[in-house]
Amino acid sequence: MLFNASWPIRNEMCSSPDQSEFQPGAQWRPGPVLGIESSCDETAAAVLGRGGAVLSNVVSSQGTVHEKFGGVVPELAARAHLGKINMVVEEALATAQVSRHTLAAVAVTQGPGLAGALLVGVNYAKALSYGLGIPIIGVNHLQGHIASAWLADPMFPLPCIVLVVSGGHTHLYRHDVDGRCTQLGRTRDDAAGEAFDKGAQMLGLGYPGGPAVDRIARSGDSQAIRFPRFHRAKNSLEFSFSGLKTALLYKLREMDGSLRHHQTADLAAGYQEAIVQVLVTKAFAALKQSNLAALAVVGGVSANSRLRTVLSERAAHEGIRLSLPPIEYCTDNAAMIASAGRQLLLNGERPHSDLDISPAERFVTVHEENRTTIGFSVG
Ligand code: KG4
Ligand code: ZN
Repeated sequence: MLFNASWPIRNEMCSSPDQSEFQPGAQWRPGPVLGIESSCDETAAAVLGRGGAVLSNVVSSQGTVHEKFGGVVPELAARAHLGKINMVVEEALATAQVSRHTLAAVAVTQGPGLAGALLVGVNYAKALSYGLGIPIIGVNHLQGHIASAWLADPMFPLPCIVLVVSGGHTHLYRHDVDGRCTQLGRTRDDAAGEAFDKGAQMLGLGYPGGPAVDRIARSGDSQAIRFPRFHRAKNSLEFSFSGLKTALLYKLREMDGSLRHHQTADLAAGYQEAIVQVLVTKAFAALKQSNLAALAVVGGVSANSRLRTVLSERAAHEGIRLSLPPIEYCTDNAAMIASAGRQLLLNGERPHSDLDISPAERFVTVHEENRTTIGFSVG
């Protein structure tokens, strides 16, 4: 069963929701915000306090559900979310010591992501919003990752460059003081996380691949086997990782089974180094081209230990202010969704009472008569 006995189900919930506590169009009064994230294989809920501090951040991972398939199976993901979501939300509220009746809003990932998985989170959040009479706000997953840069470092300055590196995205943005984000570059093929996951699969390291490569690479020599760094054109801020995957495939074909086995750590370290060096080079090129001195790196791949080391060293050397969120805010979590939703409400965004999922939603910038505004597009 999805809802437990304490759920405030009212007869009018489905037909005529009681929104008396929040009149659409009224100024949102800050209070605790519940965030819900279910776009892929993590069921997550988090509570932020009135001032935006993270009071709880609960993540239930589906790793064991999908590992034998070597990747996320959408149907299984949706079912697992359905089985977990109520428990995860209950735990987030209990840990935060916040009653659902004192919530001031619920923020939920609307897209991009797996349709069935998103439906679970969005429908749960809608029911909660109707039942409690609180505003609901849909959040773009990438916007959530970007917001994570300020969770542990609320004073991180704007404007800045943001590098989003996750399983589905590798994007560079310029983030301005007024909240506008301008896309400066993105991957033309595989995302950095995808390169980690596919590389791990070829190396027989299983799923999820990124953490496995990270782990084994620590005992390898990153210079023993060199992999190409794909930069596209000089000064380009566009990424490409599909050639790297092919390079690994060819190297593995040249090696016999026992050599492969003995050199797995070196292969992983060399492969990881190629991804890391390209990410760092382009992030710092974006800083230089934009004449900025603050860099935020967010998304699952920003949990990579080698990437964190190289970024930190170079930032210290070049006097760049770096926001590298703690690991729990790098990979998918609901604190970042709550934070982005809270910010939208503070900025005067109207609640999304007719919220629907947007599985293919993209986070884009729209250029109009020399003005750049943030927007979402489907497709
Ligand atoms: O942001 P995220 O949790 O989910 C998406 O929005 O995609 O990112 C997941 C990606 C996966 O590709 C995973 O392998 C990668 O982040 N990842 C890592 C590490 N931890 C997670 N990649 C490299 N090193 C890690 N330590
Ligand atoms: Zn993500």
